[in-house]
Amino acid sequence: MGFSMLVLGIVVNNAIVVMTSSPVTSSAEFYSGVLPEGFTWGVATSAYQTEGAWNEDGKSESIWDRYSHAGRVAGHATGDVACDAYHKTQDDLNILKELGVKHYRFSLSWSRLIPDPTTGQVNFKAVSHYGRFIRALKEAGIEPMVTIFHFDLPQILEENGSWSNDSIVNYYTQYARLAFSFFGMDVKYWLTFSEPWVFLYLCYGKAECAPGLSEAGTLPYSHAHNVIKSHAHAYHLYQQHFQHQYHGLVSINLNSDFMSPKDPNNASHVEAAERAQQFLIGWFANPIYGNGDYPDVMKEYVRRNSQGNVSRLPEFTEDEKNFIKGTYDYYSMSHYSTILCEPADTEYQAAMKPGYDGDMQVKQSIDPTWRKGASYYLYFVPWGLRGSLNWVRTHYNNVPVIIGENGVTDSNGTTSDSFRIDFHREYLEAMIKAIHVDGCDVRGYTVWSLMDNMEWGHGYTEKFGLYYVNFSDPLRHRVRKDSATFYKNVIADNGFPGLQILVG
Ligand SMILES: *[C@@H]1O[C@H](CO)[C@@H](O)[C@H](O)[C@H]1NC(C)=O
Ligand SMILES: *[C@@H]1O[C@H](CO)[C@@H](O)[C@H](O)[C@H]1NC(C)=O
Ligand SMILES: *[C@@H]1O[C@H](CO)[C@@H](O)[C@H](O)[C@H]1NC(C)=O
Ligand SMILES: *[C@@H]1O[C@H](CO)[C@@H](O)[C@H](O)[C@H]1NC(C)=O
Ligand SMILES: *[C@@H]1O[C@H](CO)[C@@H](O)[C@H](O)[C@H]1NC(C)=O
Ligand SMILES: *[C@@H]1O[C@H](CO)[C@@H](O)[C@H](O)[C@H]1NC(C)=O
Repeated sequence: MGFSMLVLGIVVNNAIVVMTSSPVTSSAEFYSGVLPEGFTWGVATSAYQTEGAWNEDGKSESIWDRYSHAGRVAGHATGDVACDAYHKTQDDLNILKELGVKHYRFSLSWSRLIPDPTTGQVNFKAVSHYGRFIRALKEAGIEPMVTIFHFDLPQILEENGSWSNDSIVNYYTQYARLAFSFFGMDVKYWLTFSEPWVFLYLCYGKAECAPGLSEAGTLPYSHAHNVIKSHAHAYHLYQQHFQHQYHGLVSINLNSDFMSPKDPNNASHVEAAERAQQFLIGWFANPIYGNGDYPDVMKEYVRRNSQGNVSRLPEFTEDEKNFIKGTYDYYSMSHYSTILCEPADTEYQAAMKPGYDGDMQVKQSIDPTWRKGASYYLYFVPWGLRGSLNWVRTHYNNVPVIIGENGVTDSNGTTSDSFRIDFHREYLEAMIKAIHVDGCDVRGYTVWSLMDNMEWGHGYTEKFGLYYVNFSDPLRHRVRKDSATFYKNVIADNGFPGLQILVG
């Protein structure tokens, strides 16, 4: 339909999309621009997916070691070697420098740093490994963005009641204290947890990942309760003992895919989408960014679908709500895809196992015309990112957002990955619209992932990397894909300067 030009965030051509009550239903107009100064560009990975060295230098077993060794991952894959990142820190520094990223998001391995959390003994080999890597990043001018927990729970804690055992809150806080005290001086961005929805609902409710349980009615809810409390304890610990000295920011990386009404003109579809978004994001964000408690709609629907009068969703005390409320410095958004929502009809509801899915009473679908990644859940819906950013803006008082994950999979790892360039270009355009047109306060963007790696239950069959890794090659060379060159240019330009007219 036309184009708009943005220079340093100022609209110089006012032929821009006018937002209506449904801000994100069309991508007819393409939009370009550069980001404000200080916008941070990065890439992300996690420990288990890249490090390998699963039993070296004193590391103990994690639930992912146990699960993959039991042959439960696609192709019987394991993370025993993965990208061998534990030994190839120099290679990773080289490609990070080549990209010119401003931050690198990676996670620490709990079972490496505190092999037996019940004794609390620190493994200094692991401390010096991460300490060296973090200092090397700083010397290269790259801010480390450190995820404290990214799915790889020490096996011994899993066997002692997992996240439903209240004592895990102390173990987690002890681990966070270690991270803050040893690495705090060099780390400005902290994430307490990555994607609790994935590691609680998919791993304990749907058996898609370690430890592979399917107790969708109970464990995701009871585990989440202590995950949220652990987050709040770590946040307060940082505020009380580290913030005045290190001035870092603490957040939690939340799954924030977009729940869109199937028919935006049907009020019951709009309501169903809002309910699904509250079950996905609000479950964690309402306690932390909202009023300290689970969303009312979630409390109502879980209770309604529970036996008797006892909701399967635990309750926070008033003291806990006050303790949890406001435990954030920014919002870290993990965004990949979009789902269409409408109220569950009787037939759909009857087919749902009791638990999280059935509780929300929402029928979910996709638009068959959407382009698809290699992951079953991953559709290519750029306007959904704009939708999620706006949902977070309107529900949590325009909290500053860093997009902590965004990316797309293929199954072949080709270095001629033009579809990945299209994906990032279009999602970035949607982000720029959200910033310049809608007023969303987005401060950074992070590509998942730096390189192909061990994609959890899908093993090495789904590849997200800007760099290709040949997993049959003992040297695990990192090979630049076209998308890496594309992203390097976006970073160098701080966005898409000048005029740009888009097809489609
Ligand atoms: C909970 O953790 C504590 C401390 O590690 C342990 O003593 C207890 O046995 C655990 N409870 C269960 C049910 O595993
Ligand atoms: C806690 O874990 C240890 C080590 O796996 C195990 O021996 C013990 O039985 C567990 N305790 C409980 C209560 O499950
Ligand atoms: C709105 O959606 C509901 C549930 O899908 C459906 O029963 C109803 O007919 C729709 N109303 C309109 C006006 O389309
Ligand atoms: C649920 O609570 C109501 C009101 O407190 C009570 O009358 C009813 O008997 C309870 N039902 C069950 C199944 O406990
Ligand atoms: C690899 O997968 C991508 C994405 O599905 C596809 O576009 C491309 O054609 C494939 N390349 C090869 C060599 O199979
Ligand atoms: C991967 O590495 C193996 C072993 O070195 C080699 O035989 C194979 O050709 C490599 N594949 C690619 C696509 O480079």
